Amino acid sequence: MERISQQTIDEILNAADIVDIVGEYVQLHPAGKNFKGLCPFHNEKTPSFFVSPDKHIFNCFGCGEKGNSLAFLQKYKNMSFTEALKTLADKYHIPLEIEMQKGSDDKTKRLYEITEAALGFYTLSLTNLASGKPALAYLQSRGLDVHTIQYFELGFAPNDFDSLYQTLKPKYQELDLLELGLIKKNTEGSYYDLFRNRIIFPIRNEYGKVVGYSGRIYEEKNDEPKYVNSPFTSIFTKGEILYNLDRAQAAIKAKKRIILYEGFMDVIASVKAGLKEAVASMGTALTIEQARLIKKYSDRVILCYDGDQAGFEAMGKAIPLLEKVGLDVSLLVLPEALDPDEFTKKYSFSQYAAFVEANQIDKYEFRYRYMKKHTDFSKAAEIERFKIAMFTYLLREASGTVTEIYLNHLADDAKVNLETVKNDFTSFQISQSLSKQMADKRVKIANVVMLNKYYKAELILIAYYVHDSKSRQAIINSLSEMFCEDPLNGQIMMCIDELVLSAPEVDIASIVPTKFSDKQDQVRLVLNFKTGDYSDQELNECIDTIKIRNIRNMIRDLKKQQALVNQNIDMPEYLRIQNEIIAQKQKEELINGKSRNHQKID
Ligand code: UTP
Ligand code: MN
Repeated sequence: MERISQQTIDEILNAADIVDIVGEYVQLHPAGKNFKGLCPFHNEKTPSFFVSPDKHIFNCFGCGEKGNSLAFLQKYKNMSFTEALKTLADKYHIPLEIEMQKGSDDKTKRLYEITEAALGFYTLSLTNLASGKPALAYLQSRGLDVHTIQYFELGFAPNDFDSLYQTLKPKYQELDLLELGLIKKNTEGSYYDLFRNRIIFPIRNEYGKVVGYSGRIYEEKNDEPKYVNSPFTSIFTKGEILYNLDRAQAAIKAKKRIILYEGFMDVIASVKAGLKEAVASMGTALTIEQARLIKKYSDRVILCYDGDQAGFEAMGKAIPLLEKVGLDVSLLVLPEALDPDEFTKKYSFSQYAAFVEANQIDKYEFRYRYMKKHTDFSKAAEIERFKIAMFTYLLREASGTVTEIYLNHLADDAKVNLETVKNDFTSFQISQSLSKQMADKRVKIANVVMLNKYYKAELILIAYYVHDSKSRQAIINSLSEMFCEDPLNGQIMMCIDELVLSAPEVDIASIVPTKFSDKQDQVRLVLNFKTGDYSDQELNECIDTIKIRNIRNMIRDLKKQQALVNQNIDMPEYLRIQNEIIAQKQKEELINGKSRNHQKID
């Protein structure tokens, strides 16, 4: 590992002109003794991103991103700390190489020599030791022939206390062996081997250097972990390495893609099936460093974790990481909860290769299938949950086109009308876009925000109002054009009214949003809320809903008034209000009764 002293880092940071560095990517304007511009880390129209040449930092007051020149390059250019440092050292002509070759590099060389020597010991032990026979037999029973075992340099750590230590001791220092985690010291002060009685998978970095090992048990033992890995060392961080990346490079170039697996055995199966562009994250906890490493070699990745529940969930988590570094991500879901190795056993290597080519899906399809798998379509509540989960996902991730495709699937799978699903989606979309101040327009159903019925009735009535003059007249007659309680809906109605009077021929739904400078999207949503047919019955139901709301508001106000009247002093007034309340309640009854009759007739 390249070690760079704090002194050099400070020197680079002092030399680096942050205005110059940020200015390469962001247009900056002087603002007092600072500079400002549009933040490159979030979307904004007015600048809240500041750069201070005095303090050598940037700071966005909009999204909170801040830091020095190194942090800027790391975030903006997706560089690692060392890459960013090198970029700056180059730019400002600070000799970094010399620094890195001193001391620390000698040591790294020494460590690599040891890791190779240890690997030599392990591979010989597998083929040459009598005690290695059961391990070799195990590998063969799993279908690994001699050629494969040699290619992947599989080895064996004997079941001795310290045979590796004894072998390496004459040539290498204990301190280095300890640092590599190959040996440990017990309480009596004796050294013993970390890997004992395990099959050894050497782990090489992208440049082909052995940086660590993973040891697998080969007899069923429930009390021991299946794999034991090298500890974190100066040359090994599991989360920064991809297994087999060194060997996969030619195939990656040729096929312009990387297949990312969970484990060693998956990579081995893939290579045997002819898919050599295979690497493994060594577990399901993919890191951003591993994602960057993939991006360094390819723009496209096929993610293929095990086909079980855990694999599914891990893929869901890995997708955003891979996308974050700019990778084009496809997914492969194996059937029957198999992992790639099991698939090749149950079917064949050629069938596996064919499956990979024919079954890659995109993230939308993956998400849809995943959620669908957990839904019982005979239960309305489960369909509802599935629907909301998919809506949330589509709203966050998908374009209009993709959304439409999946609303279609949803309607098919749930066996409901497409129009109904579309209406639900629009209503969901609006409810999500409502600002916090308008929280009273929303109701929470099972933790999901949906529109309340009065607000929804307003939206539908606005649609009828735009739709034709007959509906418009019906609304004015029973409610007046000021029926909206929601402030934005009220403004929209005023705007529609103006247009109806001044320019009755225009397409209201497309003109009105342009009159709103900052809320165009929301206004457009409101005006496109209703899809489907127009009917007198729906119109009347919505009018009744709003009438009931008005009555309830009235009753609420009357009750407030009544509370202020002292019965002992002004009984007549108290009774007058009481009668008024009763009259309002009767009106409500009447409307409710009428709508019940409607339902009976239908
Ligand atoms: P799996 O349990 O899927 O192992 O873990 P596998 O590669 O399919 O191996 P077989 O077929 O059971 O022999 C996937 C990867 O997760 C890491 C290893 O890198 C493994 O290859 N792992 C798993 C560990 O590091 N430690 C463990 O205890 C288990
Ligand atoms: Mn597996």
